[in-house]
Amino acid sequence: MLSLNLPLFPVLETQRLILRGQNESDAAALYALRTNDQVMRYIDRVRPKHVDESKAVIQTLNKNFKNGESLVWAIVLKEQPDVMIGNIGYYRTDLANHRAELGYMLLPEYWRKGIISEALVQAVNFGFDSINLHSISANINPENNASRQILIKNGFVKEAYFKQDYYVNGKFLDSEIYGLLNPNH
Ligand SMILES: CC(C)(COP(=O)(O)OP(=O)(O)OC[C@H]1O[C@@H](n2cnc3c(N)ncnc32)[C@H](O)[C@@H]1OP(=O)(O)O)[C@@H](O)C(=O)NCCC(=O)NCCS
Repeated sequence: MLSLNLPLFPVLETQRLILRGQNESDAAALYALRTNDQVMRYIDRVRPKHVDESKAVIQTLNKNFKNGESLVWAIVLKEQPDVMIGNIGYYRTDLANHRAELGYMLLPEYWRKGIISEALVQAVNFGFDSINLHSISANINPENNASRQILIKNGFVKEAYFKQDYYVNGKFLDSEIYGLLNPNH
């Protein structure tokens, strides 16, 4: 089976960004992201009620990384490496099928500057070249056109549309699944 057991958390660099691990000092930034109405508009998840919940999420993500189950980077600007402005990564992996699911979010003040596109290229390259994934998926709320457009611009294609497959807050929501195959396979 494909393995995600990396000895050290992989720090990646792009022209403007560093993608690094999240640590407990990023809890307030994660809390700010996860409680921001604009950010969470199409992310249908229960929102944290206290920053300690975000700290616990970071601890879980770090534990999952050590167990080889997930790989989520903090997005920081090179000139402010301590300030997490977003995150991107493989929250869910399906390593038996050499597949992982990419997710991302960014504080609204940084939107439309190409930041997630820049981070996504690196995250995808790492997934294909270093982890040797065969495919990468992304699961969007069908109303999330911004996320859809980023995926399409980066070569993802629509693979599935599930009707009312996701139950959250008393509602059944649809999901649209995008996928990208490893071009080297
Ligand atoms: C979706 C999101 C990550 C986009 O990040 P971003 O850094 O602003 O995206 P980019 O600047 O790299 O945009 C790349 C392309 O995506 C498309 N896009 C981005 N935001 C868009 C918007 N609001 N409406 C329509 N298209 C949009 C455009 O085609 C854009 O290219 P262009 O600016 O040259 O036209 C950001 O809006 C966000 O954090 N949203 C909330 C969290 C979220 O929904 N995450 C995805 C969950 S599946």
